[in-house]
Formats: sequence, C-alpha cells, structure tokens
Amino acid sequence: MKHSIDDYTHDPRLQRPDKNPARLDFIQSATGLVLALFIWAHMFFESSILFGKEAMHTMTVFFEGYYFFGEKHPVFVTWLGLLIFGIFILHAFVALRKFPASYRQYRIFRSHMKTMRHTDTSTWFVQIVTGFVMFFLGSVHLYIVISQPGDIGPYASSDRMVTEWMWPLYIVLLVAVILHAGIGSYRLCLKWGWFEGKNAKKSRRFLRKFQYGTIVFFMTLGLLSIASYMKIGYEHRAHAGERYHPAYEKTVQGERP
Ligand code: HEM
Repeated sequence: MKHSIDDYTHDPRLQRPDKNPARLDFIQSATGLVLALFIWAHMFFESSILFGKEAMHTMTVFFEGYYFFGEKHPVFVTWLGLLIFGIFILHAFVALRKFPASYRQYRIFRSHMKTMRHTDTSTWFVQIVTGFVMFFLGSVHLYIVISQPGDIGPYASSDRMVTEWMWPLYIVLLVAVILHAGIGSYRLCLKWGWFEGKNAKKSRRFLRKFQYGTIVFFMTLGLLSIASYMKIGYEHRAHAGERYHPAYEKTVQGERP
C-alpha cells in the first residue's frame, strides 16, 4: 500500500527515528574524553617546572621536535594547538544545546536542583558554569600558544605569568578546567557504563572517589606549578624578555638546544 506525505508526517510508526541527538551526544562524549585526557597530560608536562628550569626547557624542546629532528620547530606546537582548538570548539558547539535557553528555563532548573539536592544534578550546573568560563579564558590561552609557539619556556612562560599579568587568568582557568574535566569524566563513565561491574552502587561510589581524587590531585599540581612560574617570573622581572639557556649550552655552543 502506498502512503501519502500526510501519513509520514502524522503516523509515528512510519517516521524514521531521528538519529541526530544520538550523534551529537556521541560527538560530545568523544571530544570531551580527548580533551580531558589532553588536559591531564598537559598538567603533567607543564608541571615539569617543579623540577627546575632545565626540566621545563627539556620538555619544551621535546615538543618542538628537537630530539627527533636535531633542531627546534616551534610550529609543531602551533599544529597541536590548532588541533586542540578545533576539538575544543566542536565540544563547546555541541554542548551549547544543553545550556538553559532562557532565564525561565534557568529558574526552573535552579528550583529543581534545590528540591532534588542530588550531587549529580548540582555538578551538572557546575559543568555549565565552568564550560562558559573556559570558552573565553581557554580561547585566550590557546590563541597565545598558537600565535607565539616559540615563547614557551622557563623564562618566557614565567614572564608571561608575572610581567604580562596572566596569572589571574591562569588561576581562574585552572579551577574551571580541573573541575570540568573531573566531573565530565565521571559523568562519561556513568553515561556509557564504563567500569560498571556487577554492583552498580559500589562502582558509582568508586567513580565518585575517582572524580574527587583527580580534582584534588590536578588542582594541587596546577596551583604549585603556577606558584613556581610566578616565583621565577618575579625574580626575573628586571630581565623580562630574556630567554633561558641551560648551563651546558653556554659551554658547548650549538651542541644541544
Ligand atoms: C596545544 C595546546 C596547549 C599548549 C601547548 C599549552 C601550553 C601551556 C603552557 C606552556 C603553559 C605554561 C604557562 C605559559 O607558558 O603561558 C600552560 C598553562 C596552562 N594551560 Fe595550557 N596549553 C595548551 C592548551 C590548554 C587548554 C586547552 C587548556 C584548558 C582549556 C589549558 C589550560 C592551562 C592552564 C589552566 C594553565 C595554568 C598552568 C597551571 O595551572 O599549572 N591549556 N599551558
């Protein structure tokens, strides 16, 4: 039997299910996972400053390809930055559909949150707020890293923190990004049933501990790193703009970066 257009629009049995919400959900989860893993790795690399200026210098030239090509190519950092920026924008774009669309929706959610008093509902709100903050502050940081890839290093980064007054931005960005990645990864595990095991209650308790653990660990690591960059930047403020050269470079010119 042939169906008319009207049948297709009015009879739910003849309509194809809309797969777009599921596709968007998948994109949001996949980009979120990549970004959370990137940010945790980023915190480790960048905390190399806690082991001294030379350790951070070694890490910087590693990312510039020195140990693979024998010379520094800061443009590699630009490429990585562009890739991360692309994923970051895609993630934010698909997440926009979950933002309260009007003040009325926002009020309804707030009263719902107060009545429920459920941690997972409240943390969803934290995701909205930290996501909003990160979109602005993360874009500033990524733009700097992409446009000035050669200006990363023990002195360059520390001067940026102190002399160029970036430390307030980094502190707010750190709080937002660590909360967002910690809560986001927990929600991701619940959503897709990762690490579920046989006892759902037990696994949720474990995942909650993991969520708090990562937040406390990376927040502490990040704050200590910022403090270390600030100390170096403060001591170096009279020579801001001067670049770091490890001790061995001064004796054996040209042999190592
Ligand atoms: C390829 C991309 C990225 C590179 C190469 C990079 C590199 C760096 C570097 C070298 C620093 C030290 C300070 C400086 O030099 O200005 C830093 C700090 C920081 N970055 Fe990134 N970053 C990238 C992406 C991101 C993203 C996407 C975020 C979050 C949205 C982020 C969040 C932070 C935070 C919060 C700090 C403060 C440092 C701390 O707490 O220890 N970064 N980044």
